[in-house]
Amino acid sequence: MEQFLNDVIKDLSGQPKRLNSKYFYDEAGSRLFQQIMNCEEYYPTDCELEIFKHKTSELATVIKDGFDDFDLIELGAGDATKSSYLLKELVDTNVNFTYRPIDISGSMIDQLEKELPGKIPGLRIKGLCGDYFDMLDLANQLSDKKKVILFMGGNIGNFEVETAAAFCVNLRRYLNPGDLVLIGFDLRKHPRVIRAAYNDKEGLTEAFNLNLFHRINRELGGDFVVDQFEHYPSYDPGTGACRSYLISLKDQVVHIGEQEFIFKTDEYIAMEISQKYSMAETEEMALKTGYLPIQHFTDQKNWFLDTVWKVV
Ligand code: AVI
Repeated sequence: MEQFLNDVIKDLSGQPKRLNSKYFYDEAGSRLFQQIMNCEEYYPTDCELEIFKHKTSELATVIKDGFDDFDLIELGAGDATKSSYLLKELVDTNVNFTYRPIDISGSMIDQLEKELPGKIPGLRIKGLCGDYFDMLDLANQLSDKKKVILFMGGNIGNFEVETAAAFCVNLRRYLNPGDLVLIGFDLRKHPRVIRAAYNDKEGLTEAFNLNLFHRINRELGGDFVVDQFEHYPSYDPGTGACRSYLISLKDQVVHIGEQEFIFKTDEYIAMEISQKYSMAETEEMALKTGYLPIQHFTDQKNWFLDTVWKVV
């Protein structure tokens, strides 16, 4: 709460103004994100699901990589819909591993621990609830087995490129040579497809962005007049950056607690980046952050990549 307030004040005091998309996911925001994932234009979820459904045994083969027993740690596991295919394949082929989903939501972890073993009999699961790196630290204290990290969903795209690289370097610190990571990257493709995915006809992505104003109003005592801002998505094929902005439709003043923020007509707030990568760019990132890319998995359209890197 304190952190949320401090971040919002700091980010709206800067020039240009910005807000951190990690705060999109309150209850309403998470519901909207679910709806986005099911909408016609938003392709990444379907593409990654296709990979996990149709390339399951190839994925399992590279992931077990001759390990005798290992920890399969999923960062931001959510409801584990996609990873379940891999878990089932590993259990069905008698691979010895423990699934350790990490999620910020305790109820999500409870639900996974309760429901997954029913769906995948024989699965060893021990959830970890909290911040990724705190939980990786804990996972290292709990076990010194080989690790395979899953970081799926294209979540790495919600970091600026340099921040994504710093994230990989940081992740590397919790791992040992030979450990594996599987990262989901949304790939560069026709700009029309990308723009449409972040500008859906139903207005779900707009509502997802504007929901942060509702959250600030409710939780931090803000007075954003939400319909005085408009969602503006952009995609730059030069850099691969897909960015969303909220544009002030008039000169206006917004209060958050004691603080006052002045908005000019047409002024923007930078809300979210969803960076798209070429396959070569992901390989470059692996090599410069301490990993060796070992296998790529893509969907049929080549729109999404799950890539497996080995820690060097
Ligand atoms: C969670 N993340 C990978 C999504 C994305 O595609 O950047 C969030 C999202 N934003 C708008 N639509 C979906």
